[in-house]
Amino acid sequence: MGAKVKPVQPTEIKMKKYLFITALIILSTLIACAQKNRTDNNTEIKNQIQGKNMKNVLIAYFSCTGNTRSLAEHIAQASKAELYEIKPKISYSSEDLNWRNSSSRVNIEKNDPSFRPAISDNAKNMEQYDIIFLGYPIWFGQAPNIIYTFLESYDFSGKTIVPFCTSGSSPIGTSASNLHKICSDNTTWLSGSRFAGNTSRSEIVTWINGLGLNITAE
Ligand SMILES: Cc1cc2nc3c(=O)[nH]c(=O)nc-3n(C[C@H](O)[C@H](O)[C@H](O)COP(=O)(O)O)c2cc1C
Repeated sequence: MGAKVKPVQPTEIKMKKYLFITALIILSTLIACAQKNRTDNNTEIKNQIQGKNMKNVLIAYFSCTGNTRSLAEHIAQASKAELYEIKPKISYSSEDLNWRNSSSRVNIEKNDPSFRPAISDNAKNMEQYDIIFLGYPIWFGQAPNIIYTFLESYDFSGKTIVPFCTSGSSPIGTSASNLHKICSDNTTWLSGSRFAGNTSRSEIVTWINGLGLNITAE
């Protein structure tokens, strides 16, 4: 007597087909993930060889007499990062900057903390940056109002901000902690540093490398 062959049901064939396709999808996803990891590792190694940062870094700065600009340029060159100047729509003349004159523009702005001087050009693609170095001069012990305009213009959630400033002699003081207050809880805010206007590039490199940000400065 021959063995009885059970006829294969069409639903069974469908089921097997379905399982086969699912297995195929899972397998190709796993292969794609493995390839992506390998590509990421390769890019990381290449970046390390070329001295590039793995993180996208922006140096945003405001400067009227060039001191903060010079520092921002050192940071950008040392860490191979992009520079963005926070340019006021109406630039400050030397009379505007005359802090001794109680009716000068800087004094008027200082006396109205809610005043936000307009910025002429927005930073492009802010969403692409992971770390933003934010540079400003100390005015009357604080950051100029335009830095508040800048911070209120973007969503810095998930980003790291590193404040730095220049001054005649004042420390960074409460200028940075006051700026921090207006950022979302999701923003990582590093304690800032104050520099003299003539700080050298090598001092800046030492500072950047000591920040523990996993960005390479020369
Ligand atoms: C309106 C105004 C207020 C200032 N207030 C202070 C201050 O409180 N403490 C200080 O040490 N320097 C003060 N300075 C000096 C600047 O902080 C210093 O010159 C700074 O490096 C200028 O930066 P910049 O060249 O990038 O504009 C003030 C300068 C101006 C124009």
